[in-house]
Amino acid sequence: ILFGGEPGIGKSTLLLQMAVEEEKINVLYVSGEESEQQIKMRAERIGLTNQQCYILTETNIQNIFTQAETTQPELLIIDSIQTLYSSQIESSPGSISQVRECTAQLLRYAKQTGVPVFLIGHITKEGSLAGPKVLEHMVDAVLQFEGDRNHVYRLLRSIKNRFGSTNELGIYEMLGTGLRQVENPSEILITNTDSSLSGISIAATLEGMRPMLVEVQALVSTAAYGTPQRSSTGFDSKRLNMLLAVMEKRCGFKLGAKDVFLNIAGGIKVDDPAIDLAVVAAVLSSNADLAIEKNIALSAEVGLSGEVRPVNRVEQRIYEAEKLGFDKIIISKYNKGIDQKNFKIELVQCGKIDEVVRALFA
Ligand code: TYD
Ligand code: MG
Repeated sequence: ILFGGEPGIGKSTLLLQMAVEEEKINVLYVSGEESEQQIKMRAERIGLTNQQCYILTETNIQNIFTQAETTQPELLIIDSIQTLYSSQIESSPGSISQVRECTAQLLRYAKQTGVPVFLIGHITKEGSLAGPKVLEHMVDAVLQFEGDRNHVYRLLRSIKNRFGSTNELGIYEMLGTGLRQVENPSEILITNTDSSLSGISIAATLEGMRPMLVEVQALVSTAAYGTPQRSSTGFDSKRLNMLLAVMEKRCGFKLGAKDVFLNIAGGIKVDDPAIDLAVVAAVLSSNADLAIEKNIALSAEVGLSGEVRPVNRVEQRIYEAEKLGFDKIIISKYNKGIDQKNFKIELVQCGKIDEVVRALFA
């Protein structure tokens, strides 16, 4: 299992946590990055319960196998694949040929012994696994740990899984005592302000299988210079430009004269198309300086001609909004088989974005 993520995101913390919280299994945690003392300190911070977790600071792969021979681990963790080297190869640790060779040897070890092996791999800002993508097709599963280092929330995504679903998602919060699983993601992603503010909307999205309500924040201001600025955090900026063009055509939004800043609260990235309508609503709300009532959630894709399009598993999204106490949810009228009778929350079903505008700001 390749476990990727940017430096500092919490890869070592999560896997060490797995190693020390798991009781009564023999774990060998190999680190080429930190000293035994540092790892012990961290383990104590997290809370050490597994007395059979062995730490090895080593970067030579042959020595690691020799140790594994004596320890006979039931789980092997390598932190990180980029620090390992095999003396059979000339090049330095972290180079493509070393990373590939060490992975191949660990793969053989995993298949021969049946011991699950976790490989931590650093990903660069550009998103490629340094030393690199070539590993992804070798391993059985690729997990990616992401989130904004300046925020406390982290998402664990499954990118590839030979023997199971990639639709699972883990959400964690970084605390002083390690990572804690977030049971109810929606609550943390929505800020609770007393008064309604303009430029804020709530989207009912799905991350993998999990419904999740996220807050979209927009700021629209008059462009000070010739070229209006566009900035988007947590949402695809090309998609934002597309939605702005649709708003210009359908809602009279003056695209060329406005700066638009968009942000998904909590530092998470959303690529679920169902967030489109909330993005449109937040931008229009900020533009007109009219707040959207706090009891309304939105969940629909927006098409090029301004049509409000249906999204998958809309019931799940509706139930999540209902569960969190929203009174209304705006969805597409083209979702099939949706009946108001099955929900306590009021369904507002729209076909075009101008209908949504009327429902929100009338
Ligand atoms: P780390 O696991 O070292 O990241 P990676 O292995 O992906 O490079 O974690 C890095 C950050 O996590 C570090 O900046 C400190 C923070 N952290 C906490 O906030 N609480 C904790 O209990 C631990 C162990 C780390
Ligand atoms: Mg680390």
